[in-house]
Amino acid sequence: MTQAAILVSAPYFTADELARIEDVGELVYAGTPEERAALSEEARMGVRAIANKGHKPLDGAQMDLFPNLEIIAQFGVGYDAIDVAAATARGIRVTNTPDVLNEDVADLALAMMLAWSREIVRGDGWVRDGTWSKGKELPRNRKMSGAPVGIAGMGRIGRAIADRCAGFGMPVHYTSRSAKDTPEGWTYHGEDVVALAEAVEWMVVAVVGGENTKGYLSREAIRALGPRGVVINIARGTCVDEDALIEALEAGDIAGAGLDVFYNEPHVNPRLIALPNVLLQPHQASSTVETRRDMSMLQCANLTAYFAGAPLPTPVN
Ligand code: 8YV
Repeated sequence: MTQAAILVSAPYFTADELARIEDVGELVYAGTPEERAALSEEARMGVRAIANKGHKPLDGAQMDLFPNLEIIAQFGVGYDAIDVAAATARGIRVTNTPDVLNEDVADLALAMMLAWSREIVRGDGWVRDGTWSKGKELPRNRKMSGAPVGIAGMGRIGRAIADRCAGFGMPVHYTSRSAKDTPEGWTYHGEDVVALAEAVEWMVVAVVGGENTKGYLSREAIRALGPRGVVINIARGTCVDEDALIEALEAGDIAGAGLDVFYNEPHVNPRLIALPNVLLQPHQASSTVETRRDMSMLQCANLTAYFAGAPLPTPVN
């Protein structure tokens, strides 16, 4: 254990995640900006690391509360909440937890697609509330296998989703900054998300979050999906023009959506909640026991490596 104090965004960590961080250094609990500002000067001076989790913005002003801060280790692949430029300017290292969650995030994307197309949630309700036993049959739902799918953002998570979709016989189309080495027959649409939408029925948003991808799935792209279009978002709420999505869903311009992430989560727009053609999930894509353990271990491996003077396993800057 180092002498370094590690500030943790406490409310978001489980007991075993905290215990792992505590193996690296002494814990200082302060989840919110208010709690951080309320720490004594002595406590703030002792902080050399922040173990961060959750999606609350962490900006330069907050970093400046800790003059001896050297590293911010994010629990999660996405670090859009952290002002990395501000960290770099202050000589603060940033790490994240990529790869270990690819499979679970892809699994949830497919689970939402299947649940949406086969009305799994409604079917479960019909069995439980006796609608089925009274002789009513669930209306015909929609075949997913074989339908064309668009992957907006063919990074590591996008690829894991595409591989699964290919297993369902779905022709794969994608956008990405550059063409990827993919199985034969997958169609690359450059960065033209409207062309991607025109080619598919399912649109899975898998781009990284942050300023550059705000509204990546634009109003025009949503409209281009057409009445059979279904939007699946496992990336960030900001990656989709949520107002345009809600309007399209309300008007029936597209068929539906499966969403694990939202603009203002955990507070979800009531207009989305009111829509029957939307499947809603509580940002749980990486949340299996196995993957959350691996994410926690990788977060701590970065902290341990840093304090041992070893190369960081998964640096961001
Ligand atoms: C979160 C995520 O880390 O990895 C990401 O970027 O969005 C999630 O896995 C998780 O919800 C904890 O905040």
